[in-house]
Amino acid sequence: MAAGRGSFNSRFAAVMALAGSAIGLGNIWRFPYMVGQHGGAAFIIVYLACSLLVSLPVFFAEGFLGKSTGLSALGALEKKAPRWRWAGYVSIIASFVITSYYSVVGGWSLDYFIRSLGGGFSGLSMENSTEVFSRMSSSHVEVLAAFGAFLTLTAAIVLAGVEKGIGLFSKVMMPLLFVMIVVIVVKSLSLPGASAGVDYLLKPDFSRLDAPAIAAALGQSFFSLSLGVGCVLTYCSYMKKEDSLTATGMWTVLFDTIFAILAGFAVMPAVFSVQGLEPGAGPSLVYETLPVVFSQMGPLVPVVFFLAVLVAALTSSISMFEVVVSWLIDEKKLRRPVAVLLVYLAALVLGSLCALLPRVFSACDFAASNIFMTFGALVFVMVAGWLLPEHDVRREFSSARVFSIFRFLVKWVCPVAILSIAITNLL
Ligand code: TRP
Repeated sequence: MAAGRGSFNSRFAAVMALAGSAIGLGNIWRFPYMVGQHGGAAFIIVYLACSLLVSLPVFFAEGFLGKSTGLSALGALEKKAPRWRWAGYVSIIASFVITSYYSVVGGWSLDYFIRSLGGGFSGLSMENSTEVFSRMSSSHVEVLAAFGAFLTLTAAIVLAGVEKGIGLFSKVMMPLLFVMIVVIVVKSLSLPGASAGVDYLLKPDFSRLDAPAIAAALGQSFFSLSLGVGCVLTYCSYMKKEDSLTATGMWTVLFDTIFAILAGFAVMPAVFSVQGLEPGAGPSLVYETLPVVFSQMGPLVPVVFFLAVLVAALTSSISMFEVVVSWLIDEKKLRRPVAVLLVYLAALVLGSLCALLPRVFSACDFAASNIFMTFGALVFVMVAGWLLPEHDVRREFSSARVFSIFRFLVKWVCPVAILSIAITNLL
């Protein structure tokens, strides 16, 4: 392991950091509206199957590369599969692109959190809320300021290092995040009419499960677990040798899935409690619909909710930021402060473009979730499943049973599943 690259000082820190990377806007903002668009519980069932049969093995494959080499994406691939070294650059570019556009949406959550602190949502009607959102998202100054502030917070945590920055922030914030979401779920379930939302989440409508819905479930599971762009690889390279990769992976998937479902129960009952609100409203659900519902539940509810969104977004953005920083530290031998500054400045430029130009934003989102992530995941599973000798990979697995299941899934199920969604998404 390169000297001075840092490490997580306990398995708890590693699991919290990985769960922090996984749990983010994808869980709170994307998962509920995807469930809304693709048939409620039927989508959740497919999502669970994808997470277990495809995403978890991809997690192991990616994490294995980081943990066994103690290096970030580029170095790990160079060491294990030199001919695939260039794919490491794809990871770094992908993480950089995602950091930039993700921080724009992260900025909205910071903006909304500050607004809620000032009581800005009290007595809000649906029309007003739509207006607030469109005014915010079309005000260049406000969007840029919020994005810049969010990116600065991200950079500050990464600057503090793996143990004292990322590890410590995640260890404190992740448990708090669970408490906050549970509070919102309880509040949301106590609303009149909430049971329609619960039914919606629990009653499967299989007629809406077409190929795009299944591809969306796998894509969402990948996005939610931060797979395919080196976040898992980099964080696992900071794990202590004696900590178990399989246990860490299972905890991460478990926490991420529980959190996504909790977020569904925080959002859907609230949406259904108000006549005329649409569960499939899409991206605007969190920023337009929920402020209206939550502000009716007392002044503190929006504060807790948007703080949860902000914290979830931050623990995710630091993981993408760190992928690029760790490459500069490992391969370019830069000191952390210099690496952080360079990434910060570059992300300020691309992120500002995303904030100002919706077409750049959509292009980044499309490239990241349809091309980069699937490509990276495919490379990781091919290297761990086909290229490397079995005994090499076997060493990171304490149980022979788990290893043989992993081996089968990573060799056959993952590549087929990943290629099919890539094709479905591009058609
Ligand atoms: N998983 C995070 C979320 O659900 C976002 C995220 C972090 C991510 N790192 C990533 C998404 C890497 C794709 C790739 O919000």
